Amino acid sequence: MTLDDLRGLIRTIPDFPKPGILFRDVTTLIGHGAGFAAAVGHLAARAEADGAEVIAGIEARGFIFGAAVAARMGLPFVPVRKPGKLPVPVLAIDYALEYGTDTLEVDPGAVPDGARVIVVDDLIATGGTALAAVELLRRAGGEVIGAHFAIDLPELGGAERLRDAGVRVQALLAYE
Ligand code: PRP
Ligand code: HPA
Repeated sequence: MTLDDLRGLIRTIPDFPKPGILFRDVTTLIGHGAGFAAAVGHLAARAEADGAEVIAGIEARGFIFGAAVAARMGLPFVPVRKPGKLPVPVLAIDYALEYGTDTLEVDPGAVPDGARVIVVDDLIATGGTALAAVELLRRAGGEVIGAHFAIDLPELGGAERLRDAGVRVQALLAYE
């Protein structure tokens, strides 16, 4: 299945979650067996080419893609979680949302020292979420070499911000 086929499986919802926003919805992609398998295959091929040793995924949609990529590659999966979910002392980082802030947490023992980590998420918009995850995984001892997404919204500048932080960015599809 080509990347253009995958584009056809992503649903666009106008005015969600707010008026004026065109929401790119991956639930129709993951709801298509062959389409989701193909998306995971494309992401795994890129993570393999970048020499991934660990796959990290960001709660919640990043767990769907990231865990599937890790399982396909036979690599460890590290969950980057929303606050209060991990049962051990955590490393935590606050990051800015459009309105307010949120927090991400990781188990400091989850990443072997110096391991080559690829972050996987469904989508990058402003990049605030992915940048926070990169910083956290670096603090945990990982060498974060890349961040891979199903979808990039380049007009929001997130991929550029990540590249400025020394992270190789890839996305299967861009929506201008
Ligand atoms: C979405 C998406 C990314 C992030 C992208 O997650 O899955 O993680 O926003 O936005 P950014 O590049 O501007 O930071 P959301 O916080 O909506 O959480 P969810 O996965 O639990 O739906
Ligand atoms: N789709 C899904 N998640 C998002 C989007 C979008 O278009 N923009 C910011 N987060």
